[in-house]
Amino acid sequence: MNMAEKKQEPMQPAANPGIARREFFLRVGLGSIGIAAAGTAAFTYQFLSPNVLYEPSPVVNMGKPESYQLDSVTLVVDARIFVVHLKEGFFALNAVCTHLGCLTAWKPDLGIIACPCHGSKFAVFQPPDKKPGEKFDGPAPKPLPWLKMSLNDEGELMVDRSEEIRPLTFVRV
Ligand code: FES
Repeated sequence: MNMAEKKQEPMQPAANPGIARREFFLRVGLGSIGIAAAGTAAFTYQFLSPNVLYEPSPVVNMGKPESYQLDSVTLVVDARIFVVHLKEGFFALNAVCTHLGCLTAWKPDLGIIACPCHGSKFAVFQPPDKKPGEKFDGPAPKPLPWLKMSLNDEGELMVDRSEEIRPLTFVRV
């Protein structure tokens, strides 16, 4: 049998193109619905979740008053607070410089608080005519704020970093 005689089979159409096409569109449709449902669920979860910013409490425990000697200035580095104990009582100063936010330092030999960044100086024992925290030199625009201090039920000093108070408000123990 030569090649010319070989009977050519007519091309058969695919098994059933209508079903394949239908299945394709069904899958695309289901996929779209799935994506839309996932997006809606994510949006709903975000919408219903409380819109809360979790931050550490501004109130910090400074411990027992007995741990601070009379006429002492103690920098609590983690809290960025000075705890000062004078004969008038206790108070807390924010240790963050009011110029550009550097952490200030206690200078016991000078009786002042000084900023290492641009040289602002804040009174404690010196100069005698200034209130503690008051700026007397350098570029800082404001004094170091006095922070609200209180005693808790255990007799420990608590400082609220979020609340500034009037200077010369002492906690007496
Ligand atoms: S940051 Fe303290 S003087 Fe500039």
